[in-house]
Amino acid sequence: MSRPPTPAPSSTPVRPIARETTGPGGALPDGAEGLALIKPGVRAQAGYTLRAPAARRKLNQNECPHDLPQEIKQAVLDRAADAAWQRYPEFVPERLVQRLAAHYGWVTDGVVVGNGSNELIQATLSVVLGEGDAVVAPSPTFSLYRLLTGVLGGRYVPVPMGPGFAFDVDRIVETAVRERARVIVLNSPNNPTGSAVPDGAVERLLAETGALVLCDEAYQDFGGPTAIPLLRRTSRLVVLRTFSKAMGMAGLRFGLALAHPDVARELAKGKLPYNVNLITLAAADVALDHADLLAARTRAVTETRDRFLPRLAGLPGIEVFPSAANFVLFRCQAHPAGEVFTRLYEEHGILIRDVSGSPDLAQCLRISIGTEEDMEAVLSALQVVLGRAS
Ligand SMILES: Cc1ncc(COP(=O)(O)O)c(C=O)c1O
Repeated sequence: MSRPPTPAPSSTPVRPIARETTGPGGALPDGAEGLALIKPGVRAQAGYTLRAPAARRKLNQNECPHDLPQEIKQAVLDRAADAAWQRYPEFVPERLVQRLAAHYGWVTDGVVVGNGSNELIQATLSVVLGEGDAVVAPSPTFSLYRLLTGVLGGRYVPVPMGPGFAFDVDRIVETAVRERARVIVLNSPNNPTGSAVPDGAVERLLAETGALVLCDEAYQDFGGPTAIPLLRRTSRLVVLRTFSKAMGMAGLRFGLALAHPDVARELAKGKLPYNVNLITLAAADVALDHADLLAARTRAVTETRDRFLPRLAGLPGIEVFPSAANFVLFRCQAHPAGEVFTRLYEEHGILIRDVSGSPDLAQCLRISIGTEEDMEAVLSALQVVLGRAS
């Protein structure tokens, strides 16, 4: 969901400072002078925001449906309690970085850790983009790429996906070449469509364009190919992974970038020093101790998805798109999507994501895969809402 762009500045004469305060806690009636100093490219962007009211079944942010087991949380807290909190965390958390490199099959000095992978999207774009440089990305996709490109003064060039929201690799190549793209962003599986890039697509983009290819693999644990093996063959690739989805740690904010060591060193300049706090560093380390358990939970989510998808597709009046992720996109054909969304929430306590406001997602809704019980509840509720009362 995004906040609308800020209107363009009027030509208000600049008053340096008001003569009097507006009273305790009050703001000036408008922020015209301050706003006039914000870059037009920033004001033209819709802000990233999300209204997420409390819900019995929260299926709107592609989170893991299970909290971490209490023993794992306790192990994190014990480890964090042993650390000196008045000290900054390690500049580069060497041991953790070594473990991450081993976990993802890459070299240690090619790993950069971040306060969520969002920070590393920002860091990557900030060290690569100059004013007016093109960023090419499929559309629809994660809205943050467009926002950050605008904030950084780049030029965002969306490339429509093909039928059924399949990646149109030919068109991405053509566009990237035509626009002399500095960066191509690929999110696979793609949020919010669930589509995975076809095998060989990333290799083709690297071979046929001169761009840096930023592969956001936030959902790759749930399906689709990974670009990690290609890191051995090019230094124009950055792969992002997160602990927010399959690893079930969205609240702790941890992600990482994998890149050629020379490039990783430059990416690190785009993030803030000490960006990952010591509790999160402890949690990432403990999570790796329990990688098998977390992988088993991920498999359970994909199995739930694979059972849910055909049953969802069997409901009347909707078109369901294939998904390799932990969420599913569908299009309402017989009812307004906004009404389906509202009724699911108000009458059934199920909060999903209404993405129908985006022009290429007309009438579409996205549901995160929760527990088996959550998905049974979604199916029963949708049967009622879509008009086939059970
Ligand atoms: C495609 C994509 N990339 C990145 C993120 C954010 O990940 P993180 O929590 O690691 O910042 C999300 C979150 O929804 C996402 O959908």
